[in-house]
Parts: sequence; structure tokens; C-alpha cells
Amino acid sequence: MTFIKTLGALVLGAGLALPALADQDPAIEQRQGQFKLFVHNFGLLGGMAQGRMDYDAEMAQTAADNLFHVTRHDQSRLWPEGTDSMSVDGTRANPAIWENLDDFVSKFAALQDAAENLQGVAGSGPDEMRAGVGALGQACQACHQVYRDEAS
Ligand code: HEC
Repeated sequence: MTFIKTLGALVLGAGLALPALADQDPAIEQRQGQFKLFVHNFGLLGGMAQGRMDYDAEMAQTAADNLFHVTRHDQSRLWPEGTDSMSVDGTRANPAIWENLDDFVSKFAALQDAAENLQGVAGSGPDEMRAGVGALGQACQACHQVYRDEAS
């Protein structure tokens, strides 16, 4: 193969590979993974709060402890520029996040505060837990309303 042909093959290969690579920034799946862990724990607490399952102080406390820790995971490498839903497939992260980073960060801080509060009350009884779960759910929603696209 001549040099030019080789170059042509490389460019063609790169041209085909690039969009796929752009779709697969690992940070997207990784941040979605943390949200799945939120639901893993929040779903249990929500089930107890809504009476779909019996309140169990130990299980509630464990789930709240988990939420506290998962919400402490450092976010600095999970939201790289260019991983918004207008730029790539496979994400519901609205581009507004990167235009209002301070607000996004403060909504994440509100989530951390709500998780800390819930950790303090989850094992104290169903009513105490229910209030903490409600506040945490509002912190999830407040961010989703602005920064998460509707499911397609
Ligand atoms: C500071 C903003 C913010 C907060 C607070 C927040 N989320 Fe999200 N959440 C997002 C964004 C943005 C996405 C889209 C991520 C993506 O697709 O790249 C998302 C995605 C999700 C997903 C979909 C994950 C997937 O598999 O694609 C779930 C489930 C979820 N969040 C649950 C929660 C729960 C439960 C809470 C509260 C305990 C919460 N989120 C709090 C911003 C937030």
C-alpha cells in the first residue's frame, strides 16, 4: 500500500470511529451509575415511607448511610464539557448544566445536605424518616426539572 492509500485508510477509519468514541465518554455511564445507586437506596426508603413495606430501622439507616456516602462522591470528573445531550447520544444531561454550573453545583450541594439530614433521622422512626425522605426527593426533583431531559 502506498503512503497516500495508507493515510486515506487511516483517515477513513478515524472518520468512522470518531462519532462512536464521542458517544462513549465513560464519564456518562459512570455518572448514570451513581444515580442508579441513589435509586437503589432511595427506592427502599421511599417504599417504607409510602407504606409499601414495613419500616425497619436498621435497613432504613443502612440505606440512608449509603446515600450519604454516594452523594459525597467527588463530581469533578463526571461532567466533562461536551457530554451534554445536544452534543452526544446516550445522555439526558441538559446543556444548561454547563451554562449554569454554579447553580448545578448548588443543587448538588442541596442534595448532599438533604442526604445528611436523612442520615440523622432514618433510624429514629417511620415519621422522622418520612420527613427526611420527602426532603431528599425534593432535592432530586429540583435538579431534574431544570437539568435532566425528559426520557425519550
Ligand atoms: C444536581 C442535579 C441532580 C440531582 C440533585 C439529582 N440528579 Fe438524577 N440526574 C441528573 C442528571 C443531569 C441526569 C442525567 C445524567 C445523564 O444521562 O448523563 C440524572 C439522571 C438520573 C437517573 C437516570 C440514570 C440512568 O441510568 O441514566 C436517575 C434514576 C436519577 N437521576 C435519580 C436521581 C435521584 C433518586 C436523585 C436524588 C436522590 C437524583 N437523581 C438527584 C441530575 C441530578
